[in-house]
Amino acid sequence: AETVSSLLGDDELVVASNRQPYSHEREDGEIVVNRPAGGLTSALDPVVQSAGGTWVAWASGDADHDVTDADGRVGVPPEDPAYDLRRVSLSDEQVEGYYYGYSNQVLWPICHIDPSKMNARADFWEHYRDANRAFADAIADETNDNSLVWLQDYHLALAPRMIRETNSDVFCMQFWHITWPSWDALQTCPQYEQLLDGLLANDLVGFHTRQYCQNFLDCAAMLPDTRVDRATRSVVYKGRRTFVRPFPLGIDATNRRHLALSSADTRFWNEFRDEHDIGDTVALGVERLDYTKGIPERLAALEHFWETRPEWQGELTYVQKASESRTQIPEYQAIQDFVESEIERINDRFGTDDWTPIVYLNEYLSKDGLATLYREADLGIVSPRRDGMNLVAKEFVASQVDDPGVLLLSELTGAHDELGDESISVHPHDTPGFADAIETALTLPETERARRMNDLERLVHSNDVYAWITKQFRTVESIQHGRDVAKKS
Ligand code: G6P
Repeated sequence: AETVSSLLGDDELVVASNRQPYSHEREDGEIVVNRPAGGLTSALDPVVQSAGGTWVAWASGDADHDVTDADGRVGVPPEDPAYDLRRVSLSDEQVEGYYYGYSNQVLWPICHIDPSKMNARADFWEHYRDANRAFADAIADETNDNSLVWLQDYHLALAPRMIRETNSDVFCMQFWHITWPSWDALQTCPQYEQLLDGLLANDLVGFHTRQYCQNFLDCAAMLPDTRVDRATRSVVYKGRRTFVRPFPLGIDATNRRHLALSSADTRFWNEFRDEHDIGDTVALGVERLDYTKGIPERLAALEHFWETRPEWQGELTYVQKASESRTQIPEYQAIQDFVESEIERINDRFGTDDWTPIVYLNEYLSKDGLATLYREADLGIVSPRRDGMNLVAKEFVASQVDDPGVLLLSELTGAHDELGDESISVHPHDTPGFADAIETALTLPETERARRMNDLERLVHSNDVYAWITKQFRTVESIQHGRDVAKKS
């Protein structure tokens, strides 16, 4: 965090994201504050605290408005305010259209290359535009010529262009946290042109991998009046240049490691094992219930594994930690129902009086509880059909502080670029191959497991979230420097 504020120099940070870092809620008439839980908000919060500035985000509850001033600002953290949280109010109907609609039923499936799940309703698009306008207005209001505007993710693709309309010189950058698809996939979205037009108002756009950068440049090249400069990896459009760079997101690995070290509560683990009739070997999956995560495909591979290797029945238990997500969207309800019924069916098929094949945890689990699962699991299975990065893979690695386990990782994740060599690769749709990979992972010699995990840990610790932030601000610095030099000559 220290390095970041020195890297920022005179720049004043304005961060914007859909989710807010702190939310206020009313409990028995009292207002209570919820701390950041999500990966991104909790990782950026210390940075913004140290740098100061403003964070613009959607106010998700009524009590959020009770604590803000007339402009929607509140100082956070509440006990010792270090920066302003500026809340953007959206009506229920807007949230329906912008968040549940366009963001998660158009952009999400398109970017995850699953266009048959796209629901391109015209009103979704209108609400997305309006919500981006509301964000852009709030951001513009918080911005001066020294500001560095840093937008997060796919909820805000149009905001940069709108910010430019009021402040044509402010430095804007955006990090896109999900996959950027190839041109063929993007083209299935009716508003591809407006989306590119919005993003190309940024000075810098970041993605997790080189491939997504490449895809973005290819897409930009399809727009009339753009010039894609492959040598500098930038796009010239409407008189401005947008640089496109990979910044693979990491986790706070040190913190994860500490959590794992301090969660050596064997009582919790022993009780958990007894309560759920768990085998001696444990595989773990942790995710939001999202069709991109490949949970049904993973269950099919596990079923095939137990069927073809009966010696592992009674021995291997798979623990699925799942959290409900975006439940107002039919596709998400469907995946939730399907996963639950499949687990029931597989447990009925193989389960015995003292062994449960699959343990399904869909309720709240304490931080310590999750850390224990991560630490004790022998296999971490991360097998999305598509995932921009996937931080669960990194969390599993950073938690392997005792008796190193094995990571099984889908080649369709951004994380595979970094961690693929030392994990066991799986393809979510290749059921027998996936089952073979489970066997390979379970039978790796201990020295081999330790060597691989050691290499993975090094990667996860050196490419952590602070490295991610630092790399971006270094890039900003060099772009600004290049511009200063160009102006003087
Ligand atoms: C993905 C997105 C994030 C989002 C998260 C959780 O990781 O990139 O922007 O916050 O999913 O989804 P939710 O819709 O609950 O914010």
